Amino acid sequence: MNVKVLENYEELSQLAASLIEQQVQEYPQSVLGLATGGTPLGAYKHVIRRYKQGNIDYSNVSSINLDEYVGLDKTHSQSYHLFMKEQLFDHINIREDQTYIPDGKTSSLYQECKRYEGIIDEIGPPDLQLLGIGENGHIGFNEPGTSFTSLTHIVNLELSTRQANARFFNSFDEVPKQAITMGIGSILKSKQIVLLASGERKAEAIKRLLEGPVDEQFPASALHDHKNVTLLVDQASYQLVE
Ligand code: F6R
Repeated sequence: MNVKVLENYEELSQLAASLIEQQVQEYPQSVLGLATGGTPLGAYKHVIRRYKQGNIDYSNVSSINLDEYVGLDKTHSQSYHLFMKEQLFDHINIREDQTYIPDGKTSSLYQECKRYEGIIDEIGPPDLQLLGIGENGHIGFNEPGTSFTSLTHIVNLELSTRQANARFFNSFDEVPKQAITMGIGSILKSKQIVLLASGERKAEAIKRLLEGPVDEQFPASALHDHKNVTLLVDQASYQLVE
C-alpha cells in the first residue's frame, strides 16, 4: 500500500482531484468508481473548479458509485443519487446515462444487486476507485464481518454507521437501516484504489489499517490484498500511526 501523508484536508483533496484528472487525461474513456460521504467533497470541488478552467473532458468517462440507501427515492435530499448530481455530475460534462448508482427504491433488491454487479463487470471494473473509510473500518457500506469475496449486496447498517450519518438527516430516525453496496470482492476488482481519510475521527481506523492484521472484522484491511492501493491521509488521521 502506497501511503501519502498530506498536511491537511485541503492538500489531500487537491491531490485526490489530481489523481482523478490524471486518470481521465491519460485515458479519456476511464471508468471512475466514486464515493459519497463527507470526505470526497473537497476532491469533487477541485475537479469541478479545474473542469471549469477548461482543461479536462469528462464526456467519455463512465462512473460507478459504491452504494445507495435502501428505500430512498432518487430525488430524496439524502439519496446518493442527488448527492452525486449536486456535488459533481451537474457541474462537469459527464453524460448522465454513463453514471451508475444502485437503485435503492427497486421492488426487487436481490435483482438489483445482480444487475449492479453485472454493470461492474460490463462497464467496469473501475480504472480508479475512490474510497472513504468508516470509523469501524467499513468501505462502501461493507460492515465488519463482511466476506472479502462479497459482491454487490444488501447490508443492515450498524448503529454506529447510522449515528455517524445522522448528521446529514433531520433526525436519527430518518437514517435508513439498510443500504445496497458493492461488496468487498466487487471493490477489489478495481484496477487502482485511492482511499481518502481525513480528521482525528478516522485516526483509530487508519492506525488499525496500517498496523493491524488482515481480518474480516476490519473490512478496509482487505485492501492489503490488492496490488495498487494509494492511501491519502492528512496529519490528523495519521496521528496515531507509530
Ligand atoms: C460512501 C461510502 C462510505 C463512506 C464512509 C466515510 O459512498 O461508501 O464508506 O466513505 O462512511 O464517510 P465520510 O467520508 O462521511 O466520513
